[in-house]
Amino acid sequence: MSDALTYAARESSRFREELFEFLRIPSVSAKSEHDADTRHAAEWLADQLRRAGLAVEILQTARHPVVLGEWREAGSDAPTVLVYGHYDVQPAEPFEEWTSPPFEPEIREGKVFARGSADDKGQLFMHVKALEAALAEGSLLPVNVVVLAEGEEEIGSPSLVPFVEQHRDRLRADVVVISDSTMFAENLPSLLFSLRGLAYFELRVSTAKTDLHSGAYGGAVPNPATALARVLASLHCADGRIAIEGFYDDVVEWDERTRERIRGLPFDEEKFRDEVGAAALTGEPGWSVLERLWIRPTCEVNGLLAGYTGEGAKTVLPAKAMTKLSFRLVPDQTPDRIRELFEVHLAKVTPPGVDTELIQLHGGLPWKAELGGRFLEAASTALDEAFGTRPVLQGEGGSIPIVVEFERILNAPALLVGFALPGANMHAPDEWLPLANFERGIVALVRLYQELGTP
Ligand code: BES
Ligand code: ZN
Repeated sequence: MSDALTYAARESSRFREELFEFLRIPSVSAKSEHDADTRHAAEWLADQLRRAGLAVEILQTARHPVVLGEWREAGSDAPTVLVYGHYDVQPAEPFEEWTSPPFEPEIREGKVFARGSADDKGQLFMHVKALEAALAEGSLLPVNVVVLAEGEEEIGSPSLVPFVEQHRDRLRADVVVISDSTMFAENLPSLLFSLRGLAYFELRVSTAKTDLHSGAYGGAVPNPATALARVLASLHCADGRIAIEGFYDDVVEWDERTRERIRGLPFDEEKFRDEVGAAALTGEPGWSVLERLWIRPTCEVNGLLAGYTGEGAKTVLPAKAMTKLSFRLVPDQTPDRIRELFEVHLAKVTPPGVDTELIQLHGGLPWKAELGGRFLEAASTALDEAFGTRPVLQGEGGSIPIVVEFERILNAPALLVGFALPGANMHAPDEWLPLANFERGIVALVRLYQELGTP
């Protein structure tokens, strides 16, 4: 055991250099101009897993490949751990907002800045290095390990559900371990009790055949931007609740135990407000900030486009407008039901003479952990040993849609243990991961694999 940790400590500067190499590959899954880079990242990762001692295959999907690594020498009586992560990243734009270029990792004040450092290449790579350390010099683990890394998480994992269905037997595991989230705070590790689900739409609004002179036509022809603004304004009540009829019908109120657990966390709402730089916070009355983020559903405009936005003034009545809009969901809401309710709402609020087209881009169910049991205990012990304190249980506002599908298809519980920190700038400029967490996380994961095999 201590051999693995000694190895990890001895090799730490090489681990860091390799992490940088991984982060330099711009594996942006959303953009086809990066398809070759994304493929390169898969091959690079496969090579790393092979060197760590796993048998590795790259399996093609309709878009970006899945990397599958297997180490099964613990034997058929030992538990099997499925490690899931993603090697794709979000686009890095706007580039000019980055202090150092997104694909040229740099350390400042102990933080590794690069796209993917936190979400999720840095965290996935911690598993790779933990496995390398644990299996170095002929050492064995008490668990079998299967690593599944996908390249489509940031585009909604379109190939992964069919992939998991198809390879159900090969992926069969006793527990699924995922590091793609954050700790609760610096020096305070956490395990997740929930993730929100997601229903993401593009809404296109159109009025006329073509753009028109705003003087010659304005006043008589409907304006799509104004119509869209009306639609968007109709989605929330003045008090912050969502105004779509039936939206809350499927929400199962969380138990008092969970709310108590949330209240017990060391969280300062004022400090949070200050850190995001907002003058005031918003949301549903009757719920704390953490509850609004974790256990309440939301509706957010993610993007908005209409008319002339270039330099100077152009007098134009646009013909169309569009928005990208998402709902974060909580148990037992489903993306399909939310779509139906949203469609009915749109039919009610769209002004006359305005056409709408609704396209669903992503969907994912919310996840609620089965708490208790020896896997959670094993993770607590491992995190305690690496960080010097037992983890807290926390919820998460973001989504990892495949988690629910793993539990359903493989019938194994998921264990979500993240090592990024709040404010890591996932999906934003200046994404970062503390170097200390990269290193301590590797220790925690080595210990976790050990503990998961201890009856
Ligand atoms: N790593 C995130 C999930 C996450 C976000 C965990 C914030 C902890 C804090 C994941 O890669 C992600 O961004 N998921 C998307 C889902 C989508 C693209 C289907 C999300 O939540 O927007
Ligand atoms: Zn992620």
